[in-house]
Amino acid sequence: PIKISKEILMTDRKKVSLPFLFNKVANNEPITMLTCYDYPTAHFQEQAGVDMILVGDSLGMTMLGYESTLPVTMEDMVRHSKAVRIGTPNAWLIGDMPYMSYQPSVEIAIKNAGRLMAEAGCDAVKLEGGAEMADHMAGIVNSGIPAMGHLGLTPQSVSALGGFRLQGKGALQAKKIMDDAKALEEAGAFSILLELVPDRLCKLITERAENCFIISLGAGLDAHGQLLIYHDAFGLYPRFKPRMAKVFADAGKLIEDGLCEYVKEVTERQFPEPENWFGMPDDEYDELI
Ligand code: KIV
Repeated sequence: PIKISKEILMTDRKKVSLPFLFNKVANNEPITMLTCYDYPTAHFQEQAGVDMILVGDSLGMTMLGYESTLPVTMEDMVRHSKAVRIGTPNAWLIGDMPYMSYQPSVEIAIKNAGRLMAEAGCDAVKLEGGAEMADHMAGIVNSGIPAMGHLGLTPQSVSALGGFRLQGKGALQAKKIMDDAKALEEAGAFSILLELVPDRLCKLITERAENCFIISLGAGLDAHGQLLIYHDAFGLYPRFKPRMAKVFADAGKLIEDGLCEYVKEVTERQFPEPENWFGMPDDEYDELI
């Protein structure tokens, strides 16, 4: 169980729920979604009113510096999801299932999905894959755990997909993604993330979704909502900026400038200044001497 202190419950925002999200869809209001991996960022996203927060296994790349998401473990996901939950008591929190935490069997998938719910306080989980993962999706959903699917560019299969590239450009591959989306919907997914597929394909899948809503990551405007990787949207990933991301504020540059200033001021003895330290009364000092 997670203890949440009173100080962080000060926001008057209501807890986001599935009915709230489906209501947004019914009212044609786009759902906002970002990734998040730590407590302070979760606090800021809570204040901004982000609807859904994904603790993505992309944390392997954005937070831990790995080349891919594959080395990320359940322990990593539980630890980071816990921290994010503390910072955002109200957003709909989705824990990403890391590589090989669900693929081996339905039982393993249910057990690890349960850990993200029970140990980290997530509201839902996300897993990659289409029709071949429908049984796993159904198993998780039938255990009472809301689950999101993930199609298109699925980073855990990056080797099989031939790199971080657009998926479903040709009609045949696009049809497979459409069929996969239906299979996940029928298995009970409450939502499906479409990553890096053409906008027209995303539009078709969105129009045909009946019992789930579609979130776009680099798949155009015609989904029920949008997701961005937080580090891409705020200039915090030094290796590259993908085309699908927009930099909403260059926090990376701001931090780097601040760090250079810190190094300069300490080196030149400009920092600290008297307001940054504490003195001692003369009589106490004399006694000490
Ligand atoms: O891990 C993650 O952040 C993801 C996104 C790429 C959608 O799965």
